[in-house]
Amino acid sequence: MKGLILAGGSGTRLRPITHTSAKQLVPVANVPILFHGISHLVAAGITDIGIITGETGAEVTAAVGDGSALGARVTYIPQDEPRGLADCVLIARDYLGDDPFVMYLGDNMLQHGVTELVEAFELAARTSEHPTLDGPVPLPAAQLLLTPVPDPHRFGVAELDAEGRVVQLVEKPEDPPSDLALVGVYLFTTAVHEAVRAIRPSARGELEITDAIQWLLDRGERVDAQILDGWWIDTGKKDPLLEANRLVLETIEPRVEGTVDGASRLEGRVVIEAGATVVDSHLRGPIIVGPGAEVRSSFIGPSTAIGADCRILHSELEHSVVLEGATVEGVARLSDSLVGRGAVVRRSEQRPRATRLLVGDDSVVELG
Ligand code: G1P
Repeated sequence: MKGLILAGGSGTRLRPITHTSAKQLVPVANVPILFHGISHLVAAGITDIGIITGETGAEVTAAVGDGSALGARVTYIPQDEPRGLADCVLIARDYLGDDPFVMYLGDNMLQHGVTELVEAFELAARTSEHPTLDGPVPLPAAQLLLTPVPDPHRFGVAELDAEGRVVQLVEKPEDPPSDLALVGVYLFTTAVHEAVRAIRPSARGELEITDAIQWLLDRGERVDAQILDGWWIDTGKKDPLLEANRLVLETIEPRVEGTVDGASRLEGRVVIEAGATVVDSHLRGPIIVGPGAEVRSSFIGPSTAIGADCRILHSELEHSVVLEGATVEGVARLSDSLVGRGAVVRRSEQRPRATRLLVGDDSVVELG
């Protein structure tokens, strides 16, 4: 079985961070979102992975390389324009060959990865080799991961029969047939290739994978569904990204490889990476402090990830993600924030006291 990770999106909802870096490389617990996805596939035994790239392809390629550091063999498949999820299958046809594959949206985070979905498919494949008294059991052409959501009209939505098989799928329905949204993980056999060639672009001008799966259903193919166990987050915006960061930090094992002086106090799950220094500070985990970072005379509260080479000086911050090389200095209370690479947030000592900003395009500043 192969993996197909979609990492082409440009991340408009995470601007300005994504003006200068790929949304799939924004870190969650100091690890790029995309790396979490690759690791989930590898954990499910899928090491041959195709990555669809878009305008941030060069950066994604530079970060992931040949994938060997994560235990994968990665092949890059560039998509010249975002034409929809089904178009990704279309352009990956040669790479995928006749293997079944898992398609995974590169900015999604799943608590438990994809192992169960892959196992369920393998079980279905084995069972289908043994006809029952009622005749042969068809192999599912697709296996989908679903989860109940409060706002199904924002997703692809599935309707199931009494046995839990999919009977209908609709993309962004005005009148949803259920509250079961398609999570961005799909398992397909080769049957999908004919489907993606047969469908036409939707009203939003994209080849929808939802339409391709509906095409399979219309042809009488079996489509199975699994209800997701655990959390799932589409990390494309700041608050879901902070939430994914919070949830992943809750699972880290405390570890101190950097230096922490005697005047500092670490509480709960705290990771201090090699080369980081903590001086005269109070850290209440879960927190990760990246390699080479400096934390001085500060309080850092729960659910905070400090990237490599950051400087946190005379400040208080919590529930935030601070990217590589950023500085936070003299700030009384910073919360629920995403601070970009190399950014500087500091209290001004100048008179008259005023808020002075040099803010990038599409930034959001909420003054307390
Ligand atoms: C896509 C799919 C949709 C699915 C969603 C999951 O939507 O088209 O069916 O529910 O991903 O994140 P999009 O993010 O392109 O609007």
